[in-house]
Amino acid sequence: ALADKGNHRHFMAKEIAEQPETVSHTLAHYIDLSNETVSLRESLPFDFAELSRLTITACGTAYYAGLVAKYWFERYARLAVDVDVASEFRYREPPLAENGLTLVISQSGETADTLAALRYSAREGQHIAALVNVQESTIARESHVVFPTLCGPEIGVASTKAFTAQLTALASLVIAAGEARGVLSASRAHELVRALIELPSAISEALRHEKSIEGLARQLARASDVLYLGRGQMFPLALEGALKLKEISYIHAEGYAAGELKHGPIALVNEEMPVVVVAPSDELMEKTLSNMHEVAARGGKIILITDAEGVAEAGDGISDIIEMPRVHPFVAPILASIPVQLLAYHTAVFMGTDVDQPRNLAKSVTVE
Ligand code: G6P
Repeated sequence: ALADKGNHRHFMAKEIAEQPETVSHTLAHYIDLSNETVSLRESLPFDFAELSRLTITACGTAYYAGLVAKYWFERYARLAVDVDVASEFRYREPPLAENGLTLVISQSGETADTLAALRYSAREGQHIAALVNVQESTIARESHVVFPTLCGPEIGVASTKAFTAQLTALASLVIAAGEARGVLSASRAHELVRALIELPSAISEALRHEKSIEGLARQLARASDVLYLGRGQMFPLALEGALKLKEISYIHAEGYAAGELKHGPIALVNEEMPVVVVAPSDELMEKTLSNMHEVAARGGKIILITDAEGVAEAGDGISDIIEMPRVHPFVAPILASIPVQLLAYHTAVFMGTDVDQPRNLAKSVTVE
């Protein structure tokens, strides 16, 4: 019964739809719901307050979760973070700070490069924490502390519910770190915990936009290249959106930091290339909107994913808006995962690809 698609056409569709529950389950592990505080069950072999530096390493979608976490840890816990793909990290052999923590993120817990990065960090005397979905995995066994994502088995090769569970767990760890380091007051920490608690219902609401996203996917299916733009904590979502699209629809896609648009990708913008902009209503929104105007001025077709009201009326040359429910900016990257996944999924369905088993890809890459 575990590997059952239910009423869904693909495991990926089922796994996207499950996210209100999988995020809830993951939250229930990290949050004490009776007093709305983060309460870690794991005993930590390090003290967040004493950490000199955090190194995050992972592959694929798990790496993008780590990239979002970098923005969070720096901002909410004032902890310096290095993040790199494990295949680069392991051969860079970077010097690692004394009393540093290496956090590896892996759904399967078996990715060869991620394991090698973990072993390198352990040899270098780092504290080792793992965020994994498979608790009995090699990565879990070799870590000093294991943080779980509680999303159940993920069958679709393209990661969806594991990504949002990773982000949920990471957000909880960020709050714990921010409090321990004296950066977050109790009331500010509570505000962030509330944002997490309200997330599952916002995800349910976001999922209700599936029909209109399917309509946009029909258009994306005609493109040969798609550009994704995001700024700040939404930059990794642009990368993840592009990864999801290319791996299951085989349409070339590229994620870019919105501010880098004029340093290259703008040369590609024309009527033929859709540009997906991920821009929630935060302090960076205006900046991203101005990048969008540059795209529109060159005939680019913009699909905007946002929770801001009234942008459509501003006459920005936006072709389509995927409206998101309003959430605290802290959790906006988790929520934005939903439209990004649905857009890729429905585009792939229109293309007629093997969504759950895309060509040339493996669910778990256990050889280098
Ligand atoms: C493969 C999968 C991806 C996944 C990546 C890392 O490329 O297709 O979906 O993000 O491996 O896997 P892990 O199990 O370490 O999270």
